[in-house]
Amino acid sequence: MTTLLRIDSSSRHDGSWSRRIGDELAARLAPKQTILRDLALAPVPHVAAETIGAFFSDTSTYGAAERAATALSDSLLAEVAAADDILITVPMYNFGIPSALKAWIDQVVRLGRSFSFDGQAFGGLIKGKRAFVVIAYGAAGYAGDLKAADFVAPYLTFVLNFIGITDVTVIPVEGINMGQGEVAEAAARASIATLAA
Ligand SMILES: Cc1cc2nc3c(=O)[nH]c(=O)nc-3n(C[C@H](O)[C@H](O)[C@H](O)COP(=O)(O)O)c2cc1C
Repeated sequence: MTTLLRIDSSSRHDGSWSRRIGDELAARLAPKQTILRDLALAPVPHVAAETIGAFFSDTSTYGAAERAATALSDSLLAEVAAADDILITVPMYNFGIPSALKAWIDQVVRLGRSFSFDGQAFGGLIKGKRAFVVIAYGAAGYAGDLKAADFVAPYLTFVLNFIGITDVTVIPVEGINMGQGEVAEAAARASIATLAA
């Protein structure tokens, strides 16, 4: 039985390209169950000082305050652990990811839980999962002239790799605000059709 963790981050519901193409990708993967994190409907709060303090404390010293400060992170990490596949749908906002998605990342990238550090090197702790990232771009050219301005695909690929998810498939949909969305969507659909369920 496969479980998909789907994380949607566009502030839009109506008219969102990343969500719509994410729907197609999710249908292709045909999971038995889906855990949905809609970061626009239920925003994850920015990581708090108490949470950061607990992240970098020995868990054997945790009291009620530390457990409370890390409860959300624990539940988000449990969703990651429960998933076979992870689908992130994301728009480019000002050359990067929406802050809604960054807030989720700040709760999930956690020493001793999703990555390790032995004093010399970092290691990813989340193993055996595939990630799929659907990115909606208003402009076009992020594979060419605008490559240096894309802080979405390289960043998300790096962060996923950092926590141990090395099987990452990026589906870009470019030129949405330049009248090229339909062509880009057709290309995305063709890529999705080649994916293994
Ligand atoms: C606040 C904001 C900032 C944006 N910044 C960029 C940008 O830097 N580069 C770009 O190509 N498109 C940018 N766009 C356009 C979106 O990436 C585009 O509309 C995309 O379709 C949004 O995803 P969605 O359709 O899933 O909501 C921006 C849109 C918004 C709302």
